[in-house]
Amino acid sequence: IYGGERRNSRGYDLSAPETVEPLLHRIDKAMAGGGWTAAPIVGGRQLSGQGRPVSSPVDRSRTVGTLVEATAAQVEEAVGLAAAAQPGWDRLGGKRRADILNRMADALEADDAPLLGLLVHEAGKILPDATSELREAVDFCRYYAARAREQFGTPLRLPGPTGESNDLYLAGRGVFACISPWNFPLAIFVGQMAAALAAGNSVVAKPAEQTPLIAAEVVRRFHRAGVPGAVLHLLPGTGETVGARLVADPRVAGVAFTGSTETARAINRTLADRDGPIVPLIAETGGQNAMIVDSTALLEQVVDDCIQSAFLSAGQRCSALRVLYAQEEIADRLAAMLSGAMDMLTLGDPRHLATDVGPIIDDPARQVLEEHVRRMDREARLIKAVPVPESLSAGTFFGPRFYEIDGIARLPREVFGPVLHMIRFRSGEIDGVVRGLQSTGYGLTFGIHSRLETRAFELFRTMGVGNTYINRNMVGAVVGVQPFGGQGLSGTGPKAGGPHYLLRFATEKTLTVNT
Ligand code: SER
Repeated sequence: IYGGERRNSRGYDLSAPETVEPLLHRIDKAMAGGGWTAAPIVGGRQLSGQGRPVSSPVDRSRTVGTLVEATAAQVEEAVGLAAAAQPGWDRLGGKRRADILNRMADALEADDAPLLGLLVHEAGKILPDATSELREAVDFCRYYAARAREQFGTPLRLPGPTGESNDLYLAGRGVFACISPWNFPLAIFVGQMAAALAAGNSVVAKPAEQTPLIAAEVVRRFHRAGVPGAVLHLLPGTGETVGARLVADPRVAGVAFTGSTETARAINRTLADRDGPIVPLIAETGGQNAMIVDSTALLEQVVDDCIQSAFLSAGQRCSALRVLYAQEEIADRLAAMLSGAMDMLTLGDPRHLATDVGPIIDDPARQVLEEHVRRMDREARLIKAVPVPESLSAGTFFGPRFYEIDGIARLPREVFGPVLHMIRFRSGEIDGVVRGLQSTGYGLTFGIHSRLETRAFELFRTMGVGNTYINRNMVGAVVGVQPFGGQGLSGTGPKAGGPHYLLRFATEKTLTVNT
């Protein structure tokens, strides 16, 4: 019933030198000035305070900009202003809010260079990831604008007895706290806010501590596109000072969160214990994402899809492939082919088009990966380790690794980086594979490579995961095409970029009039 109008951004053709050269030139020019600042933006005003440098994961000695963290008093003020402004924003109606979101989409496309530059330098994204992330952010704005027009434009007239009219209205809930991750500091940050705003909520946004600069740039653009300063506020800072306070504030009427399962649980506990209304949590968390490859699969395609799903984006996607189940008959051949393909991976500066794998976001994240591979080196068989060139020692780089393990129990939690684990199975053991995967409790993405159509479809029906991909890679969900989001430990279920997403941000009100 929903989802008629959809127009995805054209994106970039990075295979064309006539696109790439001018694009790189524009990015370098945008970044040359430096001086990026992320400070609290409350009531449309950027506040001042003691700043600290934000360094680049590409080279920790390079400063990209300055971060001024929000204070407890600023959290209080932002929520108060947002609460006061929300009813007016809600009354503006879906159509006018859609106009503003469409203006935002146009502005993101028109002045793309600073955003792409910050994705590369602040978040360490390789250029293809940066351009597809920008495209996703644009798509979120346009898609939610279209849904706002449809769903929040005019009420739904319901059948009823003569002499009575019955209408179903959708309305914003109030103030939404949007808490976003560093791995999609543009797309997810924009997506959460665009959805909350489209549905008639005001927003207080807390971006990830690692990527505040691009967040500030985005919020300034939302304001320029027409979102009133009192309706959208930015509070960069830590989870303790900003995130925890926001969630505990009884004036906050909903929370959109993307990040770890532990933090989602902590938010849930706070929401349950606090005073004020009972409010929804929209959570998108991690995954223990698997791909099952049987003996009928086309291995060349599998290798390509594994490289893309496990190692590109430095494995720092929540959708990324972590566990590769290979049927015994093809396991050795697949391992050898994949290991050969890994030899071709280039680690390097994300600004260079030859680079396949950029840095890990920061040192703590890299240390977690190093600890994991130390354990794997003891417990598993190392098939391939891609070395990090000495020339990259200034950045937080980590070489992709490929292990064989003897069972999913070796992976009690998500490993957020370019590490792939292979498990063999025999032809009669598929049910055991499925039970093992289900026992993890996660349910985000799932891949199947098989030419047995019935088996593939049956696996899809059995697995409790949000996004299943058959005979292709399992990353890069497209807005309006592959609505994205998981179940179980992977999230509360809403599908970002899907036709029902905005309803999660709304309340429903029925109006009955005796005519
Ligand atoms: N939505 C992203 C993808 O599909 C992951 O967060 O890869």
